Amino acid sequence: MADVAAVRGTGLDVSRVRADFPPLAEEVRPGVPLRYFDSAATALKPAPVVEAVREFLADYPANVHRGLHVLSERATEAFEGARLKVAAHLGVDDPAQVIFTRGTTEAINLVARSWGRMALKPGDAIVLSELEHHANIVPWQMIAAETGAVLRYVDLTDDLEYDLDSFDRLFDDGRVRMVATTGMSNVTGVRPPVEEIARRARGRGARVLIDAAQSLAHEGLDVVELGIDFAAFSGHKVFGPTGVGVLYGKRELLEAMEPVLGGGNMVLRVERDRAVWNELPDKFEAGTPPIAEVIGLGAAIDYIESLDAEAVARHERGLIEHAHATLGAVEGFRLLGPSDTAGKGPIVGFTLDGTHPHDLSHLLDRHGIAIRAGHHCAMPLHTRLGIPASARASFALYNTKDEIDRLAEALGSIKTMLRRR
Ligand SMILES: Cc1ncc(COP(=O)(O)O)c(C=O)c1O
Repeated sequence: MADVAAVRGTGLDVSRVRADFPPLAEEVRPGVPLRYFDSAATALKPAPVVEAVREFLADYPANVHRGLHVLSERATEAFEGARLKVAAHLGVDDPAQVIFTRGTTEAINLVARSWGRMALKPGDAIVLSELEHHANIVPWQMIAAETGAVLRYVDLTDDLEYDLDSFDRLFDDGRVRMVATTGMSNVTGVRPPVEEIARRARGRGARVLIDAAQSLAHEGLDVVELGIDFAAFSGHKVFGPTGVGVLYGKRELLEAMEPVLGGGNMVLRVERDRAVWNELPDKFEAGTPPIAEVIGLGAAIDYIESLDAEAVARHERGLIEHAHATLGAVEGFRLLGPSDTAGKGPIVGFTLDGTHPHDLSHLLDRHGIAIRAGHHCAMPLHTRLGIPASARASFALYNTKDEIDRLAEALGSIKTMLRRR
């Protein structure tokens, strides 16, 4: 494959990587291979992840923490082993600061409700941006309504990047308690300057939450080095299973926070009228956890760490640069967000003149090309852009420039077909 030769210089053996993801070798219809550009919605799963989940379900499908028998011990070891892997991946020494949730959405809801009820008073402010996914907007709206806090939005530049001067001005009255920012926009791929945001917010006494749902599939996140208070991500976007995610929190905050869900596992003692909460992380993990999914997430972290992170980053940089160049040359193609690839991840949000994004997605599917169309759970961003929907092609380490060329060709032929109508 020409495209595989083309990426050899990046140090990532893409043909080997692709062999780990069986759907990439499939034809969606006879003679039509799959081109998967929907990794921002959910990433494909490498064989070792599938195998880890299969092995748990087939060989030791016991509940964790409670049983004193061999299968339960094995399940607990694998489950807690995954927590250690996640902690190490985030640069955290203390695995109790890693809380398993159902995903990013649940993790942010947990912080908004638990930390929000503890810390927010009427008139306090939560800073967001219009880049956010609904998962990092709606929970804050809910807790603001409950506590009397208000939401403040940072201004975005014409390129949909953070305006840091406007960000600073939001702190003038000393009421900002939380800055909750995405690590990477799921629509434009823009990477807000999280280091700078965290530094400025902490300097003004505000807490910082990073929604790493998109960014963690493409770059590391050292929560300790960043000095952030909370981070959230989903297993399924980092090549793991659906149904599992992670909340990282600073120990002193997690200890002070009340649990949101009550039930088994999260208690040390239960009396008729009261209960005593368990230690971290169990306090926030009520009920039987998603054991297979957590073990699968552990395998996904192993997979990511088995690759050369710099080589992956170089490969993905090559993909996004190639995508901007080739897709940008298609007649009627309009990129959302900055044309400069320096401050963004491998996500291309766009419209094609004369086609509704949903129609475009259907037409591309005939070419075996999977993209996403809609508002991508980012309605405020689309409102700002003045469009109800957009198309999105998102890339991962298993994509190639050759595949992107097929996307550009398909867009060109769709444009020609529509012109003839
Ligand atoms: C930036 C961002 N945040 C949060 C989410 C929500 O993730 P989940 O649905 O896995 O909870 C997504 C999902 O697309 C996302 O892209």
